[in-house]
Amino acid sequence: MSTPGTRAPVTAGTALRARLALTEPAVRAATGWLWRPDGLGRRYAVYLPVMHAVIRASVPLMERAAERSTALGATDAVGAPLAAYLREHVEEERGHDEWLLGDIAALGGDPAAVRARQPPPEVARFVGTQYYWIEHHHPVALLGYIAVLESCAPAPWLAERIAEAAGVPRAALRTVREHAELDTDHTADLFALVDTLPIGPVLVNALTTSALHTVSGLLDLFARIDRAACVDENPARGGTSTS
Ligand SMILES: [Fe+2]
Ligand SMILES: [Fe+2]
Repeated sequence: MSTPGTRAPVTAGTALRARLALTEPAVRAATGWLWRPDGLGRRYAVYLPVMHAVIRASVPLMERAAERSTALGATDAVGAPLAAYLREHVEEERGHDEWLLGDIAALGGDPAAVRARQPPPEVARFVGTQYYWIEHHHPVALLGYIAVLESCAPAPWLAERIAEAAGVPRAALRTVREHAELDTDHTADLFALVDTLPIGPVLVNALTTSALHTVSGLLDLFARIDRAACVDENPARGGTSTS
């Protein structure tokens, strides 16, 4: 508790939570629109390959960030705890891109074709920014990206809504179902780390800038999914490409 006339220091976790709270209305509006019942089946079929393109990069991103964190050595107090967290979290996220391919197959799609297709620019921007900051600034930036992805996990009721409103087979909903369960703990772990990391204003800024960029990129991805599903609805407007 601070004494009168003084202020308690703002932790990185507090700064991150405060900024993400400001983005919540926009994220809630975008997800509400994405999962509206009208046309939900088409949007879900577009959502899966787009999310596969994102999630296939999660483990490689974290592995690279862990290498860079370790390389910082004793001169940077953030490096060791950051590397330890990332190495543990890699194992928690490993194989989740395969869940998406399984969902795509259960929906009648072709996982090999999805793997072969060039990921869209929105995904390259979304993920690629993290590579840049990891390589050329500080790997702590990746925590902002992870914080947003974990805390924007599917709601517990979402899988059932997609199954009932769009007739999607439950076998094609593994990724949504499992993340609704797992990511609450993942979010808690992430913020527990951020709250205790010994970081100063420069790295707090790196972390929060990365998180805000991730929110903005996520809204772009949702908008792309919505547009692509509309094109699918009307083949005369051209193509069925989802990503
Ligand atoms: Fe995951
Ligand atoms: Fe997760």
